[in-house]
Amino acid sequence: MNVLITGGSGYLGQFLVHGLAGQGYTVHYAYGSRQLASAPPGVVAHKVDLATGEGLQEAFDQAPFHAVINCAAISQPAVCENSPDTARAVNVPSHLVDCLLRQEQVRAGLRAVLVHISTDQVYDGSRAHWKEDEAGGQVNVYGRTKYEAETHILSRLPEPYPVAILRSSIIYGPPAPDPVPRPLFLQFVASAVSNPDKPTSFFQDEYRSPVHVRDLQRITELLIAAHGQQLASEAAAAAAAARGGGQAAEAAAVPARALEALAPEALAAVAARRHRVFNAGGPERLSRVDMARQVADCLGCGYDSIESVPSASVARGVVSPPDISMDVSRLQSDLGYSPAAFRDAIKDILQPPATK
Ligand SMILES: NC(=O)c1ccc[n+]([C@@H]2O[C@H](COP(=O)([O-])OP(=O)(O)OC[C@H]3O[C@@H](n4cnc5c(N)ncnc54)[C@H](OP(=O)(O)O)[C@@H]3O)[C@@H](O)[C@H]2O)c1
Repeated sequence: MNVLITGGSGYLGQFLVHGLAGQGYTVHYAYGSRQLASAPPGVVAHKVDLATGEGLQEAFDQAPFHAVINCAAISQPAVCENSPDTARAVNVPSHLVDCLLRQEQVRAGLRAVLVHISTDQVYDGSRAHWKEDEAGGQVNVYGRTKYEAETHILSRLPEPYPVAILRSSIIYGPPAPDPVPRPLFLQFVASAVSNPDKPTSFFQDEYRSPVHVRDLQRITELLIAAHGQQLASEAAAAAAAARGGGQAAEAAAVPARALEALAPEALAAVAARRHRVFNAGGPERLSRVDMARQVADCLGCGYDSIESVPSASVARGVVSPPDISMDVSRLQSDLGYSPAAFRDAIKDILQPPATK
């Protein structure tokens, strides 16, 4: 089964490249400017510009894709605010959708499932626990372009085209195999709270539902394995009806290692899913001060370096939504998936093995 990961050189993209290659998928990834030094053997790299589409069709010409995961974005709100046209050109993946539709035409109806990574910033931030159908009133360019991306995808790839939009909260996890050119959330907090010489300001009134990168990885794996199985059974049925297609069934087979990692009931839950948009956050509503304190608890370093401040006290050049904590119950009800709690998950990342 062939998978294309756009934004494969970014933080989340790298975990997907390594994880899916390790499970036996044939992985292609697209990068903008940074080809991965750490890519596992057999992984195919494509240099593309998502803003113009340059290089993208060439990637689709090389292989039939059964799954496409779009992690590419201008993901820093301040950068989007300063360059709104570029942000829109990259974040709204119109060229990628063109390629998916063209693939369907030229490869005998082959539909790759599109897993698109969106953001909690599609909500306006005025209250807690947002549900998926409550997006609107985005407060910055980043949120607006990401929401436009969702509506663009859903209107051009209507049902039954397979699409899953994952609205991610702040992603935390271990460092990526190749360094990324920006501070990592958890590592920044850990370094700040453990520096006794310099207190760091954390907002007491900005709430998020931080999500472990491993959870986004697992949810994506579930979605693409379920689609692969669907493609394989469709091709087998076509072959049995003597209309050819045995070849396609083989090409779309989900690797055995990927299936071993998934409980059969998990795949059944995905097959029965009713929705296309999912809040992909952790299970909690945490302020940035809460997160800093939980990191300090984990490191055993006390709260002396944590300065609790209102968000209005710092000028950031971009409006940030105050409360975009999310209701993530649809992950459980539709996909049978429960993401990890922040306090539990950070232990695995921050505590050195010897002290566990
Ligand atoms: N990180 C978070 O906390 C967070 C929170 C909520 C939602 N999200 C969303 O999750 C997704 C992944 O985030 P991330 O943090 O992993 O992103 P990231 O580390 O900032 O990586 C962005 C990726 O997009 C690629 N890219 C940027 N401009 C491009 C262009 N013109 N053409 C082709 N590729 C281009 C970059 O390629 P090069 O680096 O090679 O140029 C890189 O691979 C994004 O959609 C983001 O909006 C992230």
